[in-house]
Amino acid sequence: MTDALLEFREVSRSFDDGARERVEALSPTSFVLARGQCLRVLGPSGAGKSTLLSLACGLLLPTAGEVRFEREPFSRWRESFRAAARRRSMGVVVQQLALVHGMTARENVALASVPDGLSTASDRAAQSALFDALGLAGLERAKVETLSGGERQRVALVRALAVREAKLLVLDEPTAHLDAARTDALIALLRSRIDAGCAALIATHDPRLDTLGEPLHLSSSAR
Ligand SMILES: Nc1ncnc2c1ncn2[C@@H]1O[C@H](COP(=O)(O)OP(=O)(O)OP(=O)(O)O)[C@@H](O)[C@H]1O
Ligand SMILES: [Mg+2]
Repeated sequence: MTDALLEFREVSRSFDDGARERVEALSPTSFVLARGQCLRVLGPSGAGKSTLLSLACGLLLPTAGEVRFEREPFSRWRESFRAAARRRSMGVVVQQLALVHGMTARENVALASVPDGLSTASDRAAQSALFDALGLAGLERAKVETLSGGERQRVALVRALAVREAKLLVLDEPTAHLDAARTDALIALLRSRIDAGCAALIATHDPRLDTLGEPLHLSSSAR
């Protein structure tokens, strides 16, 4: 039996928001992601990479097919249960980052990565190490809306990597705003998580991430 953490079975997702024709954002896609495995989600703009990532962490549900996390179909779980699973077991960076404005970088990290947002001393030490590793030392108390695009992206990455017992990392274009040195630091952090048994799904066009895992190619959806 394979040690499947996440499974997509003929998963597709369409949107019908009334404003335009029905859009098939993700055409039927199947794959299995094992613990300690990384897949790089590749494909042209509009191919459905961000949609696939949102389905993988239960932020979206499929219109057809099934997404299973630890063998359980997400569709059987209420939203609050999926949110709890995300907080407990997943580190997620969505394309729009989803940082909470009005809160500091440190508060954003604690909010999403620690149960009840209450960090222990060891959580705080781990968070500080991540802030340092991604070049954010000194910005922990800054309100996120005052940070640059690259700084915000790194705060979102710290938040994802700070999830104590993450089984799955879901990262959308994590190096989009990072320079070469920060990208090297991120690759080292991801490599150590993957080697420790964490699975990862990473949407990226960045060839510097090629060594992290196998490609999963999405083609443009037929409209
Ligand atoms: N909430 C939504 N409502 C309507 N259409 C949507 C929605 N989300 C995505 N789409 C459409 O689905 C398609 C796939 O979008 P998605 O964001 O997954 O692509 P992507 O591969 O991540 O692209 P990019 O590389 O530009 O980030 C696009 O045509 C997009 O307009
Ligand atoms: Mg995208």
